[in-house]
Amino acid sequence: MAIERIIVTGHLGFIASAFCEAYKGRYEITGIDFAGWGSMERNLVEGVKDIRTDISDTSSIREIVEESKPDAILNFAAESHVDRSNEDDASFWRSNVMGARNLALEASRLGIRMVQVSTDEVYGDASSSAEPWTEISSIKPKNPYSVTKAAAEMLLLVYAESKQYGLDLVITRGGNTVGPRQFPEKAIPKAIWCFTHDEPFPLFRTPARRMWLHVGDHVAGIDAALRKGHGGEVYNLAPMADSEEVTETVIERVRELVGKGEIAKVEDRDSYDLRYWMVSKKAEQELGWQAKNNLDETLESTVEWYLANLDWLEEAYALASAHSNHL
Ligand SMILES: NC(=O)c1ccc[n+]([C@@H]2O[C@H](COP(=O)([O-])OP(=O)(O)OC[C@H]3O[C@@H](n4cnc5c(N)ncnc54)[C@H](O)[C@@H]3O)[C@@H](O)[C@H]2O)c1
Repeated sequence: MAIERIIVTGHLGFIASAFCEAYKGRYEITGIDFAGWGSMERNLVEGVKDIRTDISDTSSIREIVEESKPDAILNFAAESHVDRSNEDDASFWRSNVMGARNLALEASRLGIRMVQVSTDEVYGDASSSAEPWTEISSIKPKNPYSVTKAAAEMLLLVYAESKQYGLDLVITRGGNTVGPRQFPEKAIPKAIWCFTHDEPFPLFRTPARRMWLHVGDHVAGIDAALRKGHGGEVYNLAPMADSEEVTETVIERVRELVGKGEIAKVEDRDSYDLRYWMVSKKAEQELGWQAKNNLDETLESTVEWYLANLDWLEEAYALASAHSNHL
């Protein structure tokens, strides 16, 4: 079946807004977002039908699906901030598990594809692994956020395997993503805000390794999973191999690109994973996808966007600081 009309949840957030921007010409998109944490009004992409609803509200989701008659549902919406999940995870269970469940039941009822946008954080911490994660590596999430993402995956995979539900499901596990419109609680936009405001950037004392995936590569992988993914399968979406780097080196590079700034070492947070390390050979082989941006290109284009959109960063920082202890 040709995919023309899709529902994209979380379209006012970082990654889903990048997806809408990249693919608004390919699909007729209905966005569902409850305008919560990480969202901004100005992230709304022109041409996207903008519906404000909580995906954990079963009857509203039924009504929206009935009205928009989608050919597929892409679930990006999630509570996604690890520190906040350490403090109170109730909203994470509602959005990340109940929300995913409601969308999956609708997709199953209509017999349409669902793409569940998940994360490499479900694997846990690779600091003592000898090999990078593949899709058959064990799942050992280490914080409430990643536990809820793993729980949603498991429930949806059961719906995919059962005769009763027969859900046409594809799961993507994207790496640590960077790019335009990311809320400044996350490292790179936060560093740019600090460096442009002569505030020291608080860097956790223990070095952590991350794979830095450009958001344009991430959304291209999600689109490839939608169109070419095999039902019931999981796909890692990792950046290019050279994109694994310790946070300190990346933040130093951001400082160089901004042209000024200071870094201050601070205590590590709770449930602090020291390494995420995966490969995405399966996505290369089955989806024909691989990341195109190397680490330098990712950092350069990202810093360039924030410096050209300092008013966006200012507004996002004000919103984040009004509700957060983590800036
Ligand atoms: N940021 C990363 O590095 C990364 C990496 C891999 C996977 N992911 C996954 O990608 C997805 C998007 O992440 P992001 O970084 O863009 O997050 P984000 O916080 O920027 O955006 C999430 C959006 O979802 C909306 N939302 C949350 N709960 C909702 C609910 N119950 N009903 C309706 N809308 C709701 C929020 O209002 C927000 O607009 C998440 O599922 C996340 O787990 C993120």
